[in-house]
Amino acid sequence: MSHLKIQKIAGALGAEISGVDLAEPHDDAVIAEIRAAFVEHQVIFFRDQALSPAQQVGFGRRFGPLNIHPYVAGMADHPEVMEIIKEPSDKTNFGGGWHSDMSFLETPAIGSILHAIDLPDWGGDTLFASQIAAYEALTPAMRATLDTLNAVHSAGREYSATGHSAQKRAAMKVVEAEGAVGEFIHPVVLTHPESGRKALYVNPAFTVRFEGWSRRESKPLLDFLFDHCRSEAFTCRFRWSRGAVAFWDNRSVWHYALNDYPGQRRHMRRVTVDPLPSSIPDLARAAQPATAKD
Ligand code: SIN
Repeated sequence: MSHLKIQKIAGALGAEISGVDLAEPHDDAVIAEIRAAFVEHQVIFFRDQALSPAQQVGFGRRFGPLNIHPYVAGMADHPEVMEIIKEPSDKTNFGGGWHSDMSFLETPAIGSILHAIDLPDWGGDTLFASQIAAYEALTPAMRATLDTLNAVHSAGREYSATGHSAQKRAAMKVVEAEGAVGEFIHPVVLTHPESGRKALYVNPAFTVRFEGWSRRESKPLLDFLFDHCRSEAFTCRFRWSRGAVAFWDNRSVWHYALNDYPGQRRHMRRVTVDPLPSSIPDLARAAQPATAKD
């Protein structure tokens, strides 16, 4: 029998779950219920949690192996835990643009679990956008075209020496990407391995072009998709409270950390869940160079 109370927060995605203390060890049935809610609602939220880094790692590991970020240093004792801190003097924030975590990897992360440690008095909400809703809102003709395409993803724009995150090094401890960052190809439309639903899988932070297309050829269609995918009807907005936890599905959700709290501190901790090696679909392979020049 379920102990979880699940309350949707918006039409396209997002649900708040109460009746569970994530710091406690849970049997497989409770974890299966949480996982089912995560897949159904795409992003789930829990209030009033108090997780130590070790407990956050323990909870995350119930869903798969944890990722160690290749470009952002984790905590000294818990390399899987990233501290996402914006100090009052920082101008930019981490995650301040629409993206799916780790799409630049060969086998991208399935989910991210973010825990609020210290919050500004106002602002600092996070937006989420359902890429299932974005796909389903397209015409059948556009869906059929996109179904045939692959896209190239790269961490370069964000994490290379000249990338956006270079500005955030002090707060984020972003480590220098050594040499060229890799490029990997993923389908533009991902069939979710757990729900079977189709979702758009391109994002403005990490998708650089379509496979076999130049950047110039790719730009108009990518720009259209990036604009379409963040339409208000596909979104939900989470107002954080101290201790809250958000767990989102990177396979079908974009997110955006708002930077609307100048002069205040915000401190979050994130673990990122990788797919189980046995469940990695044959979706990722090393990118081929585009056939046309940029
Ligand atoms: C992230 O992009 O993982 C951070 C989101 C947030 O801080 O709200």
